[in-house]
Amino acid sequence: MLNVNICNVELKNPVIAASGTFGFGEEYSALFDVGILGGICTKGLTLNKKEGNKGIRLHETRAGLINSIGLQNPGIEYFIEHELPKMKNMNTAIIANLGGGTVEEYIEGAKKLSCSEVDMIELNISCPNVKSGGIAFGIKSETAYKVVSKVKEYCKKPLIVKLSPNAEDIIDMAIKCCEAGADALSLVNTFKSLAIDIYKKKPVFDNVFAGLSGPCIKPIALRMVYEVCGIVDVPVIGIGGISSYKDAIEFIMAGATAIQVGTANFINPMICVEIIEGIKSFMEEQGIKDIKEIRGIARR
Ligand SMILES: Cc1cc2nc3c(=O)[nH]c(=O)nc-3n(C[C@H](O)[C@H](O)[C@H](O)COP(=O)(O)O)c2cc1C
Repeated sequence: MLNVNICNVELKNPVIAASGTFGFGEEYSALFDVGILGGICTKGLTLNKKEGNKGIRLHETRAGLINSIGLQNPGIEYFIEHELPKMKNMNTAIIANLGGGTVEEYIEGAKKLSCSEVDMIELNISCPNVKSGGIAFGIKSETAYKVVSKVKEYCKKPLIVKLSPNAEDIIDMAIKCCEAGADALSLVNTFKSLAIDIYKKKPVFDNVFAGLSGPCIKPIALRMVYEVCGIVDVPVIGIGGISSYKDAIEFIMAGATAIQVGTANFINPMICVEIIEGIKSFMEEQGIKDIKEIRGIARR
């Protein structure tokens, strides 16, 4: 049995496509039946449409990818009207990834998504807080507590809070987000990083720093997931550099209920299918009847 349950939403398996790397599922639908996935996490949505950042947005490193997309998206209303009906036909759980520059914007976004047919909301607290001069909500636990508790007041869907690995203290951050009402946690988002163009003699990205993802972050992300699973009671979704079924199983053995696959979709668009098949074969070979048997097994 591959099915898992997150906040009363039943996923047919623990493999979810990560926000920002799977669009609204349409491009991948041309390649495979995305209905085989446990879920799809949408591109980060904001109340109003966003054009995204200027300049270079993606930069490859030896074992990872650095991005500075700037939350380009069509806005929540457009999503609900034009993208969500198509996604509902995909026959998989839909997780709306919600971004925002102010607490008010997050609240308005959560209200609108609560009235839609999405299954869950994933709150991306890595967005810069415009009112506080651009410092991300997800760095200080107190700031995260404020935004999560406010959103929770208005959110009528299960609320997953997506943690940033750039948090000052990931354990304290996880505890505070749960105290604020998170129904589940997902971690991690991208790591603050830098690339310099040695010919132009300046940073590659207009905003200087950008987010690192991909295989290079996996061991650190796994450590964070292991630590957080040891202290919270809510389901945890592991994310970070997962690019094979073995990576996915490591996260589940660390305690994750489900996992998300991000950057690896760019390298191999069929990777989610391969990961699901790989998990199935591993379970057969190891005599594991139910995926839940191995959840957190490496902690015992
Ligand atoms: C191009 C790109 C865009 C992303 N956009 C978002 C986003 O809109 N919202 C969000 O919460 N995370 C976003 N992420 C972060 C991923 O969902 C994921 O947390 C991160 O990349 C780590 O997983 P990975 O190593 O498997 O890619 C983005 C990542 C990439 C590479």
